[in-house]
Amino acid sequence: MPVLDPATQQALAARMRFYRDLGLTEFYRRPVDASPAENLGAPGLASVTWDTPSPTINSQEPTIPPRKPIFTPPAASPSIPVADRAAALRLIREDIGDCTRCALHTGRNKIVFGDGSPNARLFFVGEGPGADEDSQGLPFVGKAGQLLNNMITAMGLKREEVYIANVVKCRPPANRTPEPDEANTCSPFLFQQIDVIQPEVLVALGATAATYLLGQRQPLAGLRGRVHAFRGSKLIVTYHPAFLLRDPRQKKEAWADLQIAMRELGLQAPSRG
Ligand code: URA
Repeated sequence: MPVLDPATQQALAARMRFYRDLGLTEFYRRPVDASPAENLGAPGLASVTWDTPSPTINSQEPTIPPRKPIFTPPAASPSIPVADRAAALRLIREDIGDCTRCALHTGRNKIVFGDGSPNARLFFVGEGPGADEDSQGLPFVGKAGQLLNNMITAMGLKREEVYIANVVKCRPPANRTPEPDEANTCSPFLFQQIDVIQPEVLVALGATAATYLLGQRQPLAGLRGRVHAFRGSKLIVTYHPAFLLRDPRQKKEAWADLQIAMRELGLQAPSRG
């Protein structure tokens, strides 16, 4: 354990009090080789449509064999006053800093923290940034993002009203699935974002999001179609928009999942003009 000088100790204590006052009770420490100062941190495609679902054909997303739990997600933090949510999100971003906690930092251009309303009732969780997200620093801005936008519109919502973030905040090379150590290193920040926003409903987009929110690797088919609980929010699992772009026949199934989310939020789909 490194010994901190009195000034650093004071600054660290002040920051922890600030976190505590915001209701954030879980801290994420960088590896001990970081200096104390580093530990502290500074205080579409138009053609892609969410169209009327086509008849179901029973092809499934490739399933992942069940494995033992990867980790136990920590319990949710106490509630945070609405006015402080934007400030709390900024603090989390500050803590992430110019992150080098996992190997993904070596290939990234921009950290993709998350985007949307700090007061969102609905929070979408994806897997990790792709090339477009990595260059813009925003989640879901490529082709899959265009489809996600269409899904949000179909729910009668605006993108600015929801919140969107990923399991990992840096782009995995060649868009591969994040490795467990990468996801386990990064996901505590996602959990903090969820704790701050406290959405009524979380939608896990695809198997990676479902795995790291639920703490278990299970085939998506067994997780869809019902409401799970996660850190005080209702969690619904559906297909990743990128998968739906590859297999649009599954949009009908995804729409059924989104309707569960809408029911939980008390929303009705806008009538088609
Ligand atoms: N896919 C994801 O999972 N997240 C993004 O932000 C973009 C594509």
